[in-house]
Amino acid sequence: MAVTKTQAAAGKSAKLTRPVANGKHAKVSSGAISVPYQKMFIGGRFVDSVSGKSFETLNPATGEVICQVAEGDKADIDLAVKAARKAFESGPWSKMHGPDRARLLNKLADAIEANREELAKLESLDNGKPYADSFNIDIPLTVKCFRYFAGWADKVMGKTIPIEGDFLCYTRHEPIGVVGQIIPWNFPILMLAWKWGPALACGNTVVLKPAEQTPITALRIAKLAHEVGFPDGVINVVTGYGPTAGAALSSHMDVDKIGFTGETTTGKLIMTAAAQSNLKRVSLELGGKSPNIVFADADIDAAIEGAYFGLFFNQGQCCVAGSRLYVEESIYDEFVKKMTAKAKSRKVGDPFDAAFEQGPQVSQEQMDKVLGYIESGKKEGAKMLTGGNRVGSDGYFVEPTIFVDVKEDMKIAKEEIFGPVMSIMKFKSMDEIIERANKTMFGLAAAVWTKDVKKALRMSNSLKAGTVWVNCYDVFDAAAPFGGFKMSGIGREMGEYALQQYTEVKTVIVAM
Ligand code: NAI
Ligand code: MG
Repeated sequence: MAVTKTQAAAGKSAKLTRPVANGKHAKVSSGAISVPYQKMFIGGRFVDSVSGKSFETLNPATGEVICQVAEGDKADIDLAVKAARKAFESGPWSKMHGPDRARLLNKLADAIEANREELAKLESLDNGKPYADSFNIDIPLTVKCFRYFAGWADKVMGKTIPIEGDFLCYTRHEPIGVVGQIIPWNFPILMLAWKWGPALACGNTVVLKPAEQTPITALRIAKLAHEVGFPDGVINVVTGYGPTAGAALSSHMDVDKIGFTGETTTGKLIMTAAAQSNLKRVSLELGGKSPNIVFADADIDAAIEGAYFGLFFNQGQCCVAGSRLYVEESIYDEFVKKMTAKAKSRKVGDPFDAAFEQGPQVSQEQMDKVLGYIESGKKEGAKMLTGGNRVGSDGYFVEPTIFVDVKEDMKIAKEEIFGPVMSIMKFKSMDEIIERANKTMFGLAAAVWTKDVKKALRMSNSLKAGTVWVNCYDVFDAAAPFGGFKMSGIGREMGEYALQQYTEVKTVIVAM
């Protein structure tokens, strides 16, 4: 999801330094990784589930079981919410001032940085993403996110408002209270940071439910947070499934806010649960089908790099994946030819071997889903230029795949595939492409490639999306707000806007 600024601004894909950690060996040993914590983290302690049940988490590169993790359900969510409530109302957290919260967030950032290698290994083991990506992208962005929000912790403030009459009127931006957070498996550590950073900076306490596919790094980071001094109950992690633990959190009567990232249909369930329980505040970061538009006057090689990274990065498992790639007619043939050659050269394999740029999909379910979309593309008459198959028989690897002759009403052009499947379509004019690009229920991101500044600005004004990239793709920064128009979500994460998701505004009026 995130090329560094300079890489992307230069229109280059992340040509990451693949040899990692000590800069020497290209192959990192995954065999020696031990998973330190497998129980839930509630009230400052690791605990078994109330039911005593646990579930398997798998290594997607092999399909083998990594370990058993405690399976939380309603009873565990109840305990976690109680711990969070206590910490919020009467624990040390309730009396802690902004600068002290900032200090803790900075210490957590330092601890994550100090344990970068271990965390990157655990992340790649559980999720399947190349170790170099975990190490060079996910962990550094996480550290930056915590440091950024540490900076806000003592700057969350209201206004003094001149009102009519002899009154003093001011606003306070107060924490909402106990915050439930449900995150997906595509960027497990980074999504945790996007959720915890602003919530904790604003003084809330949290109950996090990580995705069932990738539960282990959240437990490791909860322990780090405890070690650096976050008081008991401020941070709780309940591992478990969506329809059980997740649903219990989103329908809980004592949870004041729910923040979610994941599929749009799940977002609807969560919003419904919030509405039917206590009208808890809701913020949602949901799916996308982002248009990536290349005009004939663009720097074609830069556009190819950007579009390639914008779709294939993270095994195509990005909410912002540029999965509707539109190329202007006059350069279409050349573009398709170059892109196909590039996709064919993409190396798929062991996430711990720096020779490979692409790892497995996160699960059998996701792999099957992606292969199903590829079948549907063929059936509906799109032309497949490369890819289309599973790679090997162990693990969940899928070949980088490119379709052309894709029509707007085909499933592969409408639905979020969440895999390494690119659809390239042709367009003729700016008016036409604005209409086509916006003809979707989603509105998460979009990109435009052109050297003409007028065109770039007209496009960015016209595209209905929460983020528009011009001559770059996947540029993320903790200071830049992120979120969706339309069915891609509600609210903005990151940047100053994230503070709104985690505060209530109180108006105080004093007669003078
Ligand atoms: P999902 O949206 O079902 O799962 C995300 C999180 O929500 C997980 O922690 C899950 O346990 C939880 N969850 C599931 N059902 C829930 C419920 N009823 N109540 C509360 N929490 C619930 O996504 P899933 O099933 O892992 O993947 C399905 C598809 O969703 C993917 O193929 C992809 O298209 C899309 N997706 C989109 C993401 C994004 O960032 N936009 C991230 C992950 C998946
Ligand atoms: Mg689901």
